[in-house]
Amino acid sequence: MSRILKTASPKENGPLDSRVVVGFYHAHLEYKDQMALRDVSFTVDNGEFLCLTGPSGAGKSSILRLIAMDARPTKGEVIVRGMMSSKMSRRKIPTLRREIGFVFQDFRLLEDRTVEANVEFPQLVVGIGKAQMKKNIMRVLTQVGLWEKRHRYPRQLSGGEQQRVAIARAMVNSPKILLADEPTGNLDPVTAQDIINLLFRINDGGTCVVFSTHDHRIVKTFGQRVIVVDDGKIKSDIKRTRDTNRNFSLTDRMYEPEAPQTGPKSRPESETMHA
Ligand SMILES: Nc1ncnc2c1ncn2[C@@H]1O[C@H](COP(=O)(O)OP(=O)(O)OP(=O)(O)O)[C@@H](O)[C@H]1O
Ligand SMILES: [Mg+2]
Repeated sequence: MSRILKTASPKENGPLDSRVVVGFYHAHLEYKDQMALRDVSFTVDNGEFLCLTGPSGAGKSSILRLIAMDARPTKGEVIVRGMMSSKMSRRKIPTLRREIGFVFQDFRLLEDRTVEANVEFPQLVVGIGKAQMKKNIMRVLTQVGLWEKRHRYPRQLSGGEQQRVAIARAMVNSPKILLADEPTGNLDPVTAQDIINLLFRINDGGTCVVFSTHDHRIVKTFGQRVIVVDDGKIKSDIKRTRDTNRNFSLTDRMYEPEAPQTGPKSRPESETMHA
């Protein structure tokens, strides 16, 4: 049975299944005059590393926005860590936001604050004690390799470093799910590789990672589970069961000429289609 059919109803594979951290159940999203998502159903298990891809305007950011409950489905249901979009009250939003870290493509750092103050900010919102706050800042800035640059302002950092600050900020409250919208969007191959490696490390620590990308080479090299979105619908949902791709180097591949098509044998043996 396909994954999509299996997840058609929240009752069958929904909040009661503790492995499921995100569930879309026939979700539609319509902006004022624009249908962005149509009948989208899939679930994400705890600890998954999921890549959303598809052409511009396909609905990738819309899916991420629904997970963050920054938008609600106009039809259907989205359930995140047991919280249902249809029953989400304003009061519950901070609880949800603590479970989710969001990395925006354009970083959205506070330009008039240092790296350290940017990372401190989400903790002020949830009200953590000062000592714990300092520990958390040190932990995440060390993890992204920017502890030494904590007193700098965003404009004094490279694009890749700013992206790493955005990731540190998203991770500082130890979310269960990290959402990243085109985290390698404007970066060169070496820096993109750094960011992907960082996402892998975060995922190895147990955080579920969902990110979007346009880059076919990133999808081919690192996509352990890839959902292709097209025209607001899920076109395919592919899972590679063999954990091969964490050792590849994107930079080597990016400077290699594209391999000639050698037929179906060139496809990883364990690749399975779920949709
Ligand atoms: N705030 C909005 N108001 C109206 N329409 C919107 C809004 N945001 C997105 N859309 C539309 O919804 C559709 C899906 O947009 P979305 O941003 O999810 O695509 P995407 O796959 O992330 O594209 P890109 O790769 O360019 O970032 C598009 O047709 C877009 O024009
Ligand atoms: Mg987008």
